[in-house]
Amino acid sequence: MAPSVSETITEQVSNGFAKLNLKQEKEKPVPVDNGPSYPFYFPYFDVDEKFPPTELFEHTDPGSRADKAKPHLLTPETTVNHLSPFIGSEVSGVQISKLGNEGLDELALFAAERKVLVFRDQDFKDLTPERQIEIARHVAIWYFGPIQRHPTSGNVKGFPEFHVVYRDAQNDRFKEYIGGDRANRTSWHSDVSYEKQPPGTTFFFLLDQPSWGGDTLFLSQAEAYKRLSPEFQKRLEGLRAVHSAVPQADHSRKRGGPVRREPVETEHPVVRQHPVTGEKALYVNQGFTKRIVGFRDEESEFLLKFLFDHIAKGADYHIRATYKPGTVVVWDNRLTVHSATGDFDTSERRHAVRLTPQAEVPIPA
Ligand SMILES: [Fe+2]
Repeated sequence: MAPSVSETITEQVSNGFAKLNLKQEKEKPVPVDNGPSYPFYFPYFDVDEKFPPTELFEHTDPGSRADKAKPHLLTPETTVNHLSPFIGSEVSGVQISKLGNEGLDELALFAAERKVLVFRDQDFKDLTPERQIEIARHVAIWYFGPIQRHPTSGNVKGFPEFHVVYRDAQNDRFKEYIGGDRANRTSWHSDVSYEKQPPGTTFFFLLDQPSWGGDTLFLSQAEAYKRLSPEFQKRLEGLRAVHSAVPQADHSRKRGGPVRREPVETEHPVVRQHPVTGEKALYVNQGFTKRIVGFRDEESEFLLKFLFDHIAKGADYHIRATYKPGTVVVWDNRLTVHSATGDFDTSERRHAVRLTPQAEVPIPA
């Protein structure tokens, strides 16, 4: 049985999370609050938790064995509303937890084609954690393969596969991470792209949401690539860039948080190809990409600045995923970047969980 709120909070005090915020609590009175609706998923930080280096594994995407017509996912009861010509579809009338193997394979393919799927009215958050992990693993990894265990973020005690996103009146790690003096909080990134096998099809669901705001912005990196001229595309193909976990680890260390695995720096192709659809996409992001391999510093800065600006300005190939109780968002992390929107009232709680299965070593275009 999941522990009660008071038990969980006490436990967190002894494990570092609340301890890190004692100073804040003194400065700001704690408002009366019933606590998180799903205390089992309260972010858990154990500075002594350690993971070995990530090992390579053979990955085959389940979307490659799906029926292209998707008869198990897109039944007559299913409604699909596209959110943009280039990215994003809202799906209702289907329950992810009831899909069999074929349906989950089709979900993987559909996520690759549409980049982001916003499923409404799901019972996903009320499944057991084991079942949530089983579904995410099936959709993203053909045979056995790992769900990424985040080196620094909050996870769930006993279930390091869960990456917990949490903010309430006393805790605002997002602001701490991107900096408190920024004019805006937009921060485009592709999750943990520093991994040798970065995530593919990713699951995200909310447990508590603010009254309004807290949407997620998603942008098609495939369309960002297509908008470039053929000459420029040719120049980018073959280039590689370094993605670094170091700043994230340094930040965690500085605030007394965990670094469960030594940070890695990994080279990935600047343009990658999707293993199932063959679609090409830019694979650089402002969050983790640090330099172009083989370029002088100024050249690298110049090119990355152009690409980051190009991506950030892509309002005509982006969507805003909104949340309602029961929403589950599934996206393909290989073809997209996303950003949280830190626009909601600081007194409100937003509590979400991500399952981030790792995928193939990026295929150069
Ligand atoms: Fe993210």
